[in-house]
Amino acid sequence: MPEKIFIFDTTLRDGEQSPGCSMNRDEKLEMARQLDRLGVDILEVGFPITSEGDFGAVQAIAAEIRRPVIAALARADQRDIDRAWGALKEAARPRIHTFLATSDIHLQYKLHKTREEVLKMISRSVGLAKSHCPDVEFSPEDAGRTDRSYLIECCHAAVEAGASVLNLPDTVGYCLEAEYENMFAEVQARVPGMDRVMLSTHTHDDLGLAVANTLAGLRGGARQVECTVNGIGERAGNASLEEVVMAIKLRRDVLPFATDIHTEELYASSQLLTRLTGVAVQRNKAVVGRNAFAHEAGIHQDGVLKNAITYEIMTPQSVGAPSNHIVLGKHSGRHGLAKRFEELGYPLTKPELERAYELFCRLADRKKQVYDEDLLAFLNEGFQHLPEMFKLRLFQSVASSDGRSTATVELEKDGHVFHDSATAEGPCDAAFRSIDRITGVPGRILDFSVHTVGPGTDGVAEVFIRARFDGREFTGKTASHNVVEAAARAYLQAANKGVYEQKRALEAQAVAKPVHSNSLTDHYFPGGY
Ligand code: KIV
Ligand code: ZN
Repeated sequence: MPEKIFIFDTTLRDGEQSPGCSMNRDEKLEMARQLDRLGVDILEVGFPITSEGDFGAVQAIAAEIRRPVIAALARADQRDIDRAWGALKEAARPRIHTFLATSDIHLQYKLHKTREEVLKMISRSVGLAKSHCPDVEFSPEDAGRTDRSYLIECCHAAVEAGASVLNLPDTVGYCLEAEYENMFAEVQARVPGMDRVMLSTHTHDDLGLAVANTLAGLRGGARQVECTVNGIGERAGNASLEEVVMAIKLRRDVLPFATDIHTEELYASSQLLTRLTGVAVQRNKAVVGRNAFAHEAGIHQDGVLKNAITYEIMTPQSVGAPSNHIVLGKHSGRHGLAKRFEELGYPLTKPELERAYELFCRLADRKKQVYDEDLLAFLNEGFQHLPEMFKLRLFQSVASSDGRSTATVELEKDGHVFHDSATAEGPCDAAFRSIDRITGVPGRILDFSVHTVGPGTDGVAEVFIRARFDGREFTGKTASHNVVEAAARAYLQAANKGVYEQKRALEAQAVAKPVHSNSLTDHYFPGGY
């Protein structure tokens, strides 16, 4: 029977301390609800002495989230501990987490205290916390760089004063795996009374070893893991919850452990955190990154299409991520290309595939990634490029801070000129809405990025847009000195592809069944396309 590992999530405390990741009370509450759904055992939700806001967030979460243990952080001093308890006392299962640095570096340069003074502070503060709350965790901060015999003395003092959890942090992400593992083994063996105490890991990623060290800590005897969603945290971050959990789940053969995490909630947790903080994970982030289940190399695509197990050690479904996808680029092969055409609704004959592959290779040499609309452009009419359906003749916009920006566009198609104006929150949105009304094929923006080329405010803005039109995704990319105009042109490019595809679909239908005069195209454009 695998031993249970307790997941202590500190996204809302250590994670929230990292630059750009701060959250207000309501945001913390929303994230706490998701972490509860995820199934974490302990939720560290704040450091109440630091601000009224954090005190209020801890209080609100303690009042609402009743299943997991709710922990709050306090330095080893009376005001901190009383304040933490003040915020926690309505919790169903409260825990005070108190800490004090124990390495000589911290004693000398930060605390200006002797080892004896620090030992006394540990006994006093853990004792005080215990007088408030039966569940007390103590962390000797910078344990990883603390003299081992002194660390044993500190841990002993905390256990004697009533700590039920001893957390040994590698505060500065300095330890290597074997060192971190040995520290746990030694504390377990040398501190009296450890049968009543749970050991916990807390690692930072300064050397990129946070997850590896966490697993080493488990081998050394820890049964609680402190970690954060997306690995956010001070400096390089903390051990990433999703990586630790999936390593434990997938490598049962060498790690005889299990967690109670509902792994299908991992992706949703990652996405919610990104939405709340605005801090996105890198594409290649393990488990939850956009590329975690994407395959570009031809050999890989071929393998995954035959059986995903060839190149995937976990399924996207197991972490709640959208299903694996094939990214077409210069390393892709015929199998991936044929599959993509099939998914787009165009199964190709062998000679068609050969021709498409030839065009694809030529394009992939010039472009990093080949998108669906590029493939669609190969199709029909002997794999010609898409004709430009609507041309932008004139564009005007007025931006306003009161949420009523306007844009006027004039488009031309087959010698006919169409005008439209729209009002929206921002000038880009107003331009998109005007274009939608003229083309009659409204789009929904999926990606919108602006990149400026060249220094200063007179640089050129490159705009990239990915949008969905009539159930299909298309992209547009343009550059201009005027950001709004660049956005309108990029959107129109994507919209033209959408209009073209809709036309093709209607024509295909017409072959099967004659189109009636009140078809969608006739409705918007009595003159037809
Ligand atoms: O990294 C650290 O040492 C901490 C403690 C407060 C546990 O975050
Ligand atoms: Zn930390």
